[in-house]
Amino acid sequence: MSKFESSTLRSRQLFEIAKKYLPGGVSYSIRYFEPYPFYVSKAYGQKLIDVDGNEYTDYWIGHGAKIMGHNYPPVIEAIRRQIELGIHVGLPHEWEIRLAEQIHRMVPSIEKVRFTNSGTEANMYAVRLARAYTKRAAIVKFEGNWHGGYDTLHVAVVPPYEKVYAGLTYGAVKDTVILPYNDLEAVEKAVEKTEIAGIIVEPVAGAGGMIPAEREFLKGLREICDKIGALLIFDEVITGFRLSTGGAQKIYGVTPDITTLGKIVGGGEFAVGAFGGRDEYMELLNQLKYRNYHERAFQGGTFSANMLMTSAGYTLLSELERRPEIYNHINTLGEKLRKDIGEILERHNLGYTTGIGSLVGVHFTPIKPRDVKTAQTMKDKEKSRKYFQHLLESNIIALTYENPQFFISSAHTINDIERLIQVTEEFAKNIKKQ
Ligand SMILES: Cc1ncc(COP(=O)(O)O)c(C=O)c1O
Repeated sequence: MSKFESSTLRSRQLFEIAKKYLPGGVSYSIRYFEPYPFYVSKAYGQKLIDVDGNEYTDYWIGHGAKIMGHNYPPVIEAIRRQIELGIHVGLPHEWEIRLAEQIHRMVPSIEKVRFTNSGTEANMYAVRLARAYTKRAAIVKFEGNWHGGYDTLHVAVVPPYEKVYAGLTYGAVKDTVILPYNDLEAVEKAVEKTEIAGIIVEPVAGAGGMIPAEREFLKGLREICDKIGALLIFDEVITGFRLSTGGAQKIYGVTPDITTLGKIVGGGEFAVGAFGGRDEYMELLNQLKYRNYHERAFQGGTFSANMLMTSAGYTLLSELERRPEIYNHINTLGEKLRKDIGEILERHNLGYTTGIGSLVGVHFTPIKPRDVKTAQTMKDKEKSRKYFQHLLESNIIALTYENPQFFISSAHTINDIERLIQVTEEFAKNIKKQ
């Protein structure tokens, strides 16, 4: 019995019960890992405590939403205050305006915004908007980019990319043009053949292994979209407010037409998404202008822009705007982790690290991946799982089981990072002996 198994007896019991009522015992398949997930009873800062009382250093950090770590006091305080006043009313309130204004100040390309309940929904509406504006159907989507579970975009997530996932119809995916990431030539060729409504891209492919787009690639996409009259959509659900106050677009110096957001935008504590961009496009949602239902690009949702989420989101974003030292801290730790783990993996001929800022990907691949396809098709899955489990045995949780990555929050310390590096060195030495 492993150390993890002998110290997580209650979690094991809970997983057995969970399997009876939740498919695979979980509420999102990526939350499963072998032998069974631990069950969280408490979270604070960069730490999690499980139901057996074990403590973990958390790099999963709410799927990357908790840029300030768990239970960040100003956000928790804002939530407490708002609970007393109203959580969800379904009518307009001041917080939604404040949050929209705050987003515009931090990400100027978002002149107007609408809030949704997930990143998936934000991308769904962004695609609809691009189609409504251009009156075209085709959407370019890149191999291994993850935009959530919406049919049009839920293709080419994992290889083989041409295979359609269960439950999706040919009709739902026939207007999605799948192209390789970081390959501008492929895009140039594709747009000659098909009329494109929009190009959606993750500026850093997150779930695909924290692989940054090259600046020339994003710049090229901008130029192509301008040339063909298509809308460029940046999916900044991960990178938004994480790479900088202005997200990836500020770092890369490339401005999209539409930006989608999630995770951090709701204070890191709520189901949330948002999509926004230039007035000219967003006006297509304006019910004052388009009184006819059929002419409007629809967006809605019972819980969209609820008071609790918007007050928490506003509080967090204004903190991030006021405190640039937060970015210095998480980016410095990210840089160290990427460099030192990368050096260990390369020295032992095991693999490479990728990423940018506070996003770090670990790849057990024979070459350093510059696109998601390389990361996904060349990786040694067995080593990836063993690394994840070695970390787990050391009370460190990475995201995810077959694709170890780290999100760094402001609550993480240099000691956490040094320990993770040391545990990786142990792993590298042990795996060579096996
Ligand atoms: C880049 C990106 N886009 C979209 C999504 C989907 O967001 P949600 O899980 O809130 O639907 C995610 C989720 O992790 C994401 O990483």
